[in-house]
Amino acid sequence: MKKYLVTGCAGFIGSTLTDRLLKQDESVTGVDVFRDYYDVGIKRHNISGALENPNFTLIEKDLSTDLSFLDNFVDPSDELVIYHLAAQAGVRKSWGSDFRIYTRDNIDATQNLLEWAHSRGNIKNFVYASSSSIYGVPAILPMTEDKTVPIPYSPYGVTKLAAENLVRLYTANMGLPTASLRFFTVYGPRQRPDMAFNRFIRAASEKRPIGIFGNGGQTRDFTFIDDIVHGLRLAENSTKGLAMNLGGGNRVTLLHTIKTLAKVIGQEIEIEFSESKLGDVPDTWASAELAFKEMGWKPSISLEEGLKQEVNWLFSQNSQ
Ligand SMILES: NC(=O)c1ccc[n+]([C@@H]2O[C@H](COP(=O)([O-])OP(=O)(O)OC[C@H]3O[C@@H](n4cnc5c(N)ncnc54)[C@H](O)[C@@H]3O)[C@@H](O)[C@H]2O)c1
Repeated sequence: MKKYLVTGCAGFIGSTLTDRLLKQDESVTGVDVFRDYYDVGIKRHNISGALENPNFTLIEKDLSTDLSFLDNFVDPSDELVIYHLAAQAGVRKSWGSDFRIYTRDNIDATQNLLEWAHSRGNIKNFVYASSSSIYGVPAILPMTEDKTVPIPYSPYGVTKLAAENLVRLYTANMGLPTASLRFFTVYGPRQRPDMAFNRFIRAASEKRPIGIFGNGGQTRDFTFIDDIVHGLRLAENSTKGLAMNLGGGNRVTLLHTIKTLAKVIGQEIEIEFSESKLGDVPDTWASAELAFKEMGWKPSISLEEGLKQEVNWLFSQNSQ
């Protein structure tokens, strides 16, 4: 039988993917250690629907430690698709002594899981959640997998690139089937509370000014969560060890997103500007041609539609 292992299953993207797999009647084992980078209650809520499904098993364990516990949960005769989404996310906290958290959860945990997958065998694919942050500040845009040299601009980006390189090595040396997907700023329902749109929407709903780091002219290639989950599902069959951008639909300035948000919620929004943060890049812009060529993936949700969905989700959370 085919089974799925989703790491980081209680997080923003992992829980949404888990729900999608369960909806497709798949059998899913999820691993999450419920790090308190943001409110753990949010993660418990994210995964509450899945926990009611008999096809779902949750393992609350740390992937940076000995992984022999995984053998008790997945039968060796089952073909396994691994979606490795567990990580310490966020650029801004990755400086200083917190860097140890990033090396542990992003590099050590990935290397552990790759070793486990290789020695287990019977892996249909190992899909790794990489990031646009591996690119840093390239001179030429858009960011293209074969032309843009990845030179990260933050410690977080360094750890995401290191892990992506490890994934590539296990394909090149050992023939492990893998794919790495470089996500470009993901938004939508369940978005992490430290991310810009979530903060913007909460501030606007409480009639507080929205805080922006920098002058608001920075651009991001925003990608809606359903498009990301669709890309993850397609990547199950892309087993050649490619790294592919998932982004490219909605590249706009931060100021433009605030205008769109004001339109969506039907109210004026006040902005408070402050200094840019270390590690923040001026622009991201994905070429999504490779993901289209390899998997037929194309982003499909407009910024306005995606923002409406995130606003409705956050407003419904606040009214509970
Ligand atoms: N959200 C984005 O815009 C974005 C962009 C690029 C890449 N990514 C990548 O996508 C993945 C998911 O991001 P997200 O926004 O859903 O983050 P998230 O923080 O909501 O989810 C990550 C989950 O991983 C878990 N985790 C961390 N370390 C672990 C460990 N050692 N063992 C077990 N579980 C562990 C955390 O508890 C958390 O629930 C991450 O790999 C992130 O780097 C996200």
